[in-house]
Amino acid sequence: MFGAGAIAISVPNLNLRAEDNTTPPKSVSGPGGGTLLDREEPFFAKFAKSFIISGEHKYLVASQKGSMPIPVIKHFKEGLDQIAKDPFPVYIEPSEVTRAKIAKGYGARVDEIAIARNTTDAISQILSGIDWRQGDEILCSTLEYPNCVATVRRVAARFGVTVRQFGVPLRPDTEAEEITDSTRRCIKPGKTKAMFFSCPTQPNGVALPARRLADLAQQNGVITIVDGAHYGGMFDPRLDEIGIDFWGISGHKWQCGPGGTGILYVRNALLPSNSTPLPRFNLVRSGDLDAPTDGSRPAGFDIGAALSLYGFPESADWRALGESCAMWDRIGRERIQNYILALADYARQKLIAAFGEQSILQPCRDPELKSGIVAFNPFPKPEHRRNLKFSEEFKSRMFKECGYHIGCGGLGRKGLTREPDPDAAVFFDGCIPNRDPITNKPDPADIPFRIGTPAWCNRNDYNRFVDDCREMVKKMTG
Ligand SMILES: Cc1ncc(COP(=O)(O)O)c(C=O)c1O
Repeated sequence: MFGAGAIAISVPNLNLRAEDNTTPPKSVSGPGGGTLLDREEPFFAKFAKSFIISGEHKYLVASQKGSMPIPVIKHFKEGLDQIAKDPFPVYIEPSEVTRAKIAKGYGARVDEIAIARNTTDAISQILSGIDWRQGDEILCSTLEYPNCVATVRRVAARFGVTVRQFGVPLRPDTEAEEITDSTRRCIKPGKTKAMFFSCPTQPNGVALPARRLADLAQQNGVITIVDGAHYGGMFDPRLDEIGIDFWGISGHKWQCGPGGTGILYVRNALLPSNSTPLPRFNLVRSGDLDAPTDGSRPAGFDIGAALSLYGFPESADWRALGESCAMWDRIGRERIQNYILALADYARQKLIAAFGEQSILQPCRDPELKSGIVAFNPFPKPEHRRNLKFSEEFKSRMFKECGYHIGCGGLGRKGLTREPDPDAAVFFDGCIPNRDPITNKPDPADIPFRIGTPAWCNRNDYNRFVDDCREMVKKMTG
């Protein structure tokens, strides 16, 4: 479908050839990535043509849902037709073929990759499959997504597990090591069984330093679980090099596969990046009658296959996910990552120029912590920055009057902090329910707005966006 040999993507009105793709710049050079963006915008302008996102408004939120590229949609629709004509075959493409396509780009072994329904599904299976014992502790960041918080709470109640949270410093000049230090302070040797965090986080897009946290966890015999809803498709994922035990990744956000697809990664070998013994892991949803029933992993056990065997899947959507992954590989995942990150730097600089540095609600200097999600609040006064109704009005007017979909608010119902926790009252609606990394006291951050910098966008989109924000701030504050 992508044409033979040299053609990377071939769709009507679009011909990205391999020669366009020969020298992807390695890194952002110069503040704001100007040089990289100068070089790369023409290439990504062609890439943008492989999406049918309406020109009526600019879609800046791949963190909500991505958009399937045209060649992937076309083959997906053909697959649906094929299944409708002859529904008998269970798989339109054998799952190991799809899993191999995913594994290649994600730096994983095929037996480590399972196809899930989305991140929520993958993380639910992971958290529910850990071999919890009464009295164990799970250590989470304060910035976890509500769906996953819900599973953490259920698992904790069911198995008698204590939930502990580490605060994340959110100053613009925060460095990755400070986050590792905060996490280290909360580990209780012998009690902390698992660590769960996002990379990047939902409320404000911090790429929590997965490699450093993996090292820390390994030193303390702690299992690592990462919510990578926004990781796949945004970053160049070398899962074999990061040293994390489990990842849940969205197929339908930055990876631009169909809705209802996700990737579940389970480390299934001793790796140079993580040579700790494989944690016991119980399969929650598997039709594999021969899979171990005690959470063990005998040599040669294809856990990815076992976790991908459940009922009669749609399967055209699985194949489409594999094809989206293959397309990303062909373009070059490092190239996509560098473009997205440079564009996010550009967007932050525009926002800072317009509203000052206090408008950025995430660490924005240490490159290790940056992602393609930009969290900001353009209003200077606390009475606006902490007022959910006012913030929702900004969000809704930015859509109605200017055509932008943007994200707003932290972890809805205050993340893991809620009644009867005496601290619950300190967290105001819509805040990022953070805690001080040293004292662990509540340290709620102002209400964030979020945009992303998907690779179908360019600098003009953010020039226009920031101008429109400036106008809206004027209209709303007189
Ligand atoms: C950090 C994070 N985790 C999980 C999810 C849920 O994603 P999915 O639809 O893949 O389950 C989201 C959705 O925005 C998210 O931001």
